[in-house]
Amino acid sequence: MDIQTNIQLQSFNTLNLNAVASHYCIVRSLQDLREAIEFAEQAQLNMMILSGGSNMLLPEHLDALVVQLHLNDLVLLAEDDTNVTIRVGAGRHWHEFVLWTTEQGFYGLQNLALIPGWVGAAPVQNIGAYGVEVGEFIEFVEAFDRTKNEIVQIQASDCHFSYRHSIFKVQPERFVITAVIFKLLKQPQLKMNYGDLKAAMGDDITPYNLQQQVIKIRQSKLPDPAEYPNAGSFFKNPILIKTKFEEVLQLHPSIPHYPQADGSVKVAAGWLIDQTGWKGKKLGKVGMFDRQALVLVNYADASLTDVQATYRSVQQDVLNKFGILLEPEPVLFDQKGSIQSHLV
Ligand code: EPU
Repeated sequence: MDIQTNIQLQSFNTLNLNAVASHYCIVRSLQDLREAIEFAEQAQLNMMILSGGSNMLLPEHLDALVVQLHLNDLVLLAEDDTNVTIRVGAGRHWHEFVLWTTEQGFYGLQNLALIPGWVGAAPVQNIGAYGVEVGEFIEFVEAFDRTKNEIVQIQASDCHFSYRHSIFKVQPERFVITAVIFKLLKQPQLKMNYGDLKAAMGDDITPYNLQQQVIKIRQSKLPDPAEYPNAGSFFKNPILIKTKFEEVLQLHPSIPHYPQADGSVKVAAGWLIDQTGWKGKKLGKVGMFDRQALVLVNYADASLTDVQATYRSVQQDVLNKFGILLEPEPVLFDQKGSIQSHLV
């Protein structure tokens, strides 16, 4: 396995941030992964897994071993009349995998079409869109456990999936996800309750059309990273305790909100940002997109410092107006490749 030095990661992260990694390698097997871990330990470097790069904020210099997992196998493990179980390597491109499932007549993931990134990153933040979260269709996750020094299987119930969250966010250094095992449906159970998805589908109530409409809606709202470098939703939709929500609702009766099972209420971060006048507004090279205020765009070769200046300013304005602190969704890395808190 070849360890390269001083590698520019700009084209490997969808925000297009200029970031040079001191060390970089591609892992194609479990043996490669073991060698990479050994190298990082000997060189006293953190190992940082870079997947599709669509949910990360990178500093200009990274003194770390950046690893890309090119583990692309796809194996049908079991199939009966109702379900199919598929093992998918962490390095598969997410959207291409979703398209493949639909072609095969395997259902469940159609609402998650066009989400950028790779399969191995999907469980980490439990990617979700249009009423579906990936955790619902995961049977187990296969990972290299760096504490046990072996491959382990983590059942979905032990992954603690919740909104944009899982165990992999709590113990980021411990597990290197190598494959995800999905249990999909053979008979479609379409979820069309989100927004105007059902209306968009018209009379063609099929999984294929559901996938097409999700793609169309995403394309109409979300910028293509190739044209406008971005990291999807930049902030999580905040979840408020009931009393706080009621205070906000009284002052702002039109706030879009989604009651949660435990009595808390999720509110739309995009709406909060929009209300502060940030939709389509820029601070220097970085701004919030004019068709979806929740998406931060790098308009011109911005650095992490530029990105931080903009999102902190957005956070401040939302905090001043609503008393709500927005939490960024992308993971922030420091110069040593360790995950940093967004709170400073
Ligand atoms: N809104 C505004 N102004 C805006 C944007 C949104 O007023 O500029 C309002 C909308 O009118 C709507 C509400 O906010 O009433 C929610 O907007 P939308 O339905 O577009 O979804 P979202 O809450 O902004 C979430 C996910 C998206 C996912 C969509 C669809 C988060 C942080 N984001 O966005 O996920 O695609 O729902 O399910 O949960 C991502 O994570 O990268 C992502 C794109």
